[in-house]
Amino acid sequence: MNDNLHQLRCFGCGARISGTEARPDFRCADCGDLFEVEFPGWAQRSSHDRPNPGALKWLWRERRCSSEALDHSGVWRFRELLPILDSFGNAVTLREGNTPLYSLPRAAKALGMDQLFAKHQGMNPTGSFKDTGMTAALSVARERGFEWVACASTGNTSAAMAAYAARAGLRSLVLIPEGKIAWGKLSQAMDYGAVTCQLKTDFDGCVRVLTQIVREAPIYLLNSVNPYRLEGQKTPAFEIAEAFDWTVPDHLIVPGGNLANSSALGKGFREMRDLGLVARVPRISVIQAEGANPLVRSFAANHGAVLEPVEAHTRATAIRIGNPASWRKAARVVTDTGGSCLDVSEAEIAIAKAELGAEGLGCEPASAVTLAGLKKLRARGTVAPGDSVVLILTGHTLKDADYTIDFHRGTLLREDETAGLEQQIERLRRNALSVEATPEAVLAAVKGRG
Ligand code: F0G
Repeated sequence: MNDNLHQLRCFGCGARISGTEARPDFRCADCGDLFEVEFPGWAQRSSHDRPNPGALKWLWRERRCSSEALDHSGVWRFRELLPILDSFGNAVTLREGNTPLYSLPRAAKALGMDQLFAKHQGMNPTGSFKDTGMTAALSVARERGFEWVACASTGNTSAAMAAYAARAGLRSLVLIPEGKIAWGKLSQAMDYGAVTCQLKTDFDGCVRVLTQIVREAPIYLLNSVNPYRLEGQKTPAFEIAEAFDWTVPDHLIVPGGNLANSSALGKGFREMRDLGLVARVPRISVIQAEGANPLVRSFAANHGAVLEPVEAHTRATAIRIGNPASWRKAARVVTDTGGSCLDVSEAEIAIAKAELGAEGLGCEPASAVTLAGLKKLRARGTVAPGDSVVLILTGHTLKDADYTIDFHRGTLLREDETAGLEQQIERLRRNALSVEATPEAVLAAVKGRG
């Protein structure tokens, strides 16, 4: 039996092609836009390819008790909604997904809210949400017989790609901007055996170089222009709906970099609604760093119709992206769901990250934009006290330990960035103390710090 039920549809001109017809750069031959995976059998209500919502909810829950590797994956557990492989037996999995949905009681209280949650995608095998997309797209690469895979990355994609390629016995090539990714991520690419090239350019420059390479060499591109990545990355939407007993939260708040994740989660919720698994979709908001905010500018200038690339600067290196590939898809998600698109400052990101840490979660800086953004949405009244909100935390706190240490040492931010926020920052800082090796000295250090 062939498990493959998909085709590709151009997001720009609507042209439809089969999966194997896509060009190596995944751009439409007619208009240059990106493709989206679609499942023609789902469109007709009577089609036997159209999934049955009641049966699926039961089956997906049952799989949690199964001993099959594929069922342990929080991506392939939902495989009926991503029939992208000729055989699901070709899936490469590290048991990704099934990530925790934590409540955030302290942040909720501070914001005067009842229902605030964090879906922690940093709890994936390589420590970021990229694993859910990588299991999907790398499985396609293996099934189609590629020996080499490649990506340009701000660090997390490369860590995920290198790990999944190693599992599958494929070789991987990583292009990263020199000196602009966190060490934790660079070390992962090395650990998993990738060929890692640091280029003297930024992320957007790495993308340009790689696009030329894949046009010339038989290397499979695993950046998020690859539409199969988004198929895996839509599955946290299914997990969230399942956790809410097949209702959905009022708001979902997602960090925005290359803008694939917000696009993917929007697709996941839309497909669930179209198939009758849920009755509505949440309002999906995208938050960017002030220095890397091309989508925010685009909404301010022309409601997300045209995007001018920017030169990106932010210490949240994961989202230091000025020319995001999936901006059209993300703009559509924000508009269609009635979400917002806004940016937050470097100090706001650092404070939000420390607050999440103080709740025992921790995350990397790019993830903390979600809490910082929520504060603004609450202040504007866009999020009401009784609304249920889910923040998508995209990466693990250990990915960028330098950032955390610099914050607590007080060396992260410049004075002009912290103006007016000094007291808030002081309350959150927990620098390591240098103490004499005696019980008295340690107890003296503890005193008064309850
Ligand atoms: N958060 C983290 C931790 C990320 O690594 C990224 C993107 C994002 C948020 C933004 O997601 O690009 O889908 O809007 N990291 C990429 C990388 C670009 O190469 O690892 P997006």
